[in-house]
Amino acid sequence: MNTEATLTSGFSIFVIQMNTQPIGIFDSGIGGTSVFKEIHALLPHENSIYLADSKHAPYGNKSKQEIIDLSVKNTDYLLSKECKLIVVACNTATTNAISYLRTTYDVPFIGIEPAIKPAALNTETKAVGILATKGTLSSELFHQTTDLYSNGINVIEQIGEGIVPLIEAGKTHSNEMKVLLKDYLKPMIDANIDYLVLGCTHYPYLIPLLLEMLPKHVKIIDSGLAVAKQTKAVLEKNNLLNLTSKAPENLFYINTNTAVLNDILDRRFKVELLNF
Ligand code: DGL
Repeated sequence: MNTEATLTSGFSIFVIQMNTQPIGIFDSGIGGTSVFKEIHALLPHENSIYLADSKHAPYGNKSKQEIIDLSVKNTDYLLSKECKLIVVACNTATTNAISYLRTTYDVPFIGIEPAIKPAALNTETKAVGILATKGTLSSELFHQTTDLYSNGINVIEQIGEGIVPLIEAGKTHSNEMKVLLKDYLKPMIDANIDYLVLGCTHYPYLIPLLLEMLPKHVKIIDSGLAVAKQTKAVLEKNNLLNLTSKAPENLFYINTNTAVLNDILDRRFKVELLNF
């Protein structure tokens, strides 16, 4: 609950904010755990509830309206659990639905977008690769950001068709994945990219494989840490930080099966099956 304890000592009055309401986090599946891990590392005292809507994954091939409807459903669930802030840990849902969410609900929303800006500002070869879902690459928000920063830079966009279902099926390091990635990386390697931007929260789990497959000079950028920093800044600004020292409760819900989510979390958290 959002309570304040007032301690009086001598002439001083200390107000301790004890905002223990959870941070709500959702994704089309287990990929947003890459964002949760960054948030948990930066804000270890925060309670959180993570919703993995794996039943409807991938979001990347759905229409904008379908993505908005699913994002609303996820948000409603998290708000029914009294979340104080929502992290949309999905590039596809952010780029298609976050403006709708922000105008519909009162709580703060943090979104995630492909980090085109730092890649475009730092590239020396003037060629940058971006791997994301169809829904993200075709969104207005993505085009606006890319147009803003890509002047004079060759941006090689690649839809990661089939990657999310393989990760959801626990086949992140499979041969099928290697075959897909080989195909997707080829035009980028041919164009001599020096930055690869990961535009989907599932993709950080591919980094070991990508490092094996890409030339050594290529740097990989994902936005997870930036989202965690932004979450902290917004909680601070709104006086929503949990300043209690109690061990946090970090709950995970999934609507398909718990095994792969448990694996990706190294069995360190409570994971439950939820019918939603
Ligand atoms: N993790 C989601 C994202 O960042 C995956 C989208 C999908 O389900 O296609 O875009």
